[in-house]
Amino acid sequence: MKTEIIRSMHGAYRVISGKGLIASTGKLMAAPGVLPRGIIRGRTKVMVVAQSRVLALYGKPLLRSLAASGFKTTIHRLPDGERAKSQTELFRLYQALLRARFDRSDAVLALGGGVTGDLCGFAASTYLRGLAFVNVATTLLAQVDSAVGGKTGINLPEGKNLAGTFYPARLVLADSGVLQTLPERDFRASLAEVVKYGVIRNAALFRKLEKNAGKILRRDQALLAEIIHACIRIKARVAERDERETKGERMILNYGHTFGHAFEKAAGYKGLLHGEAVSVGMAAAGRLAVRLGLWPAAEAWRQEKLLVRLGLPVRLERTFKIQALLKAMQHDKKRSSGKLRFVLPVRIGKVIVRQDVAPKIIGQILKDVGGKS
Ligand SMILES: NC(=O)c1ccc[n+]([C@@H]2O[C@H](COP(=O)([O-])OP(=O)(O)OC[C@H]3O[C@@H](n4cnc5c(N)ncnc54)[C@H](O)[C@@H]3O)[C@@H](O)[C@H]2O)c1
Ligand SMILES: [Zn+2]
Repeated sequence: MKTEIIRSMHGAYRVISGKGLIASTGKLMAAPGVLPRGIIRGRTKVMVVAQSRVLALYGKPLLRSLAASGFKTTIHRLPDGERAKSQTELFRLYQALLRARFDRSDAVLALGGGVTGDLCGFAASTYLRGLAFVNVATTLLAQVDSAVGGKTGINLPEGKNLAGTFYPARLVLADSGVLQTLPERDFRASLAEVVKYGVIRNAALFRKLEKNAGKILRRDQALLAEIIHACIRIKARVAERDERETKGERMILNYGHTFGHAFEKAAGYKGLLHGEAVSVGMAAAGRLAVRLGLWPAAEAWRQEKLLVRLGLPVRLERTFKIQALLKAMQHDKKRSSGKLRFVLPVRIGKVIVRQDVAPKIIGQILKDVGGKS
């Protein structure tokens, strides 16, 4: 079990990773300093929010451990899929909290992936202007990415993540044991974010992934726990330095995402998972870095080889029009800062941000990864 303390404007919070943590949730939540107002045995209420599948798999040990530590629990079920991050579900959750008379000394606990965590974090940050939030992250993506760093949110009919807050959980648990039940494709797709951390910040992590690709795909729990902890540390340090995304530092977490978001958008968010889009996006960013003379081709090749060994795509496998992709990138640009910015490696473990790339070059790179004219 490893604990990472992360500083934030809402105070320091803990991210604990390791094997079999779920059964200790109650004890870890009852520890001093986790819930701001402490707990009153038998009185402090916890709203356990989960999708049915996750609740069926991990609800029992979690509820048992909360009861053993003196928490009173209520269960709130979410529908499966991204549609749980909606206005309807947000208000349904507020109403469940009201019905069960939750006040600021109680807590909302998310048991699930990024969808459950984002919705619960948003609800917890706004219900009665904020009550304690605990995130028991059950997907690899949530453990290494969405549960760390404090971003919460829901989707609006007009687009993804259009309403949200910066509100970290008081406690994040990343139990590597629960990853065994993840669907294969989701598990692999999330490995793209893990490779991302290696390329942007940690050459030793990258080498560990290269050395152990097979073992990772077999979901070796001890190895996964080590890797997850390394990723949490990287995200923690970046988020601490640029909590509200105002200084540009958090931008490096978008490595592979400028291209990746365009692929997802052009695919209509169907058929291509986020991590798969990011994987092709990193391959594209790598090629761009080589093309601009920033990154040795041999290292870009190592990145592609690793992605392929982890079962991830490095080329677009369907027909995507280059013009449509360029348009999607322009749209992404408008939403961020007005400039199209690329995070580009200069060596494995270090990236820089460039915003002066000629559209013609971007078009060529899109062609290289399989875009059609
Ligand atoms: N807040 C942030 O900083 C941040 C960062 C990245 C992504 N996100 C958001 O995260 C969301 C994606 O999260 P995700 O990839 O975790 O998807 P998800 O939450 O939809 O989970 C994927 C599926 O796996 C199921 N599941 C969860 N844990 C399981 C387990 N242990 N075993 C079996 N099945 C399990 C879920 O019920 C769901 O059907 C997106 O909405 C994205 O916008 C947020
Ligand atoms: Zn991502």
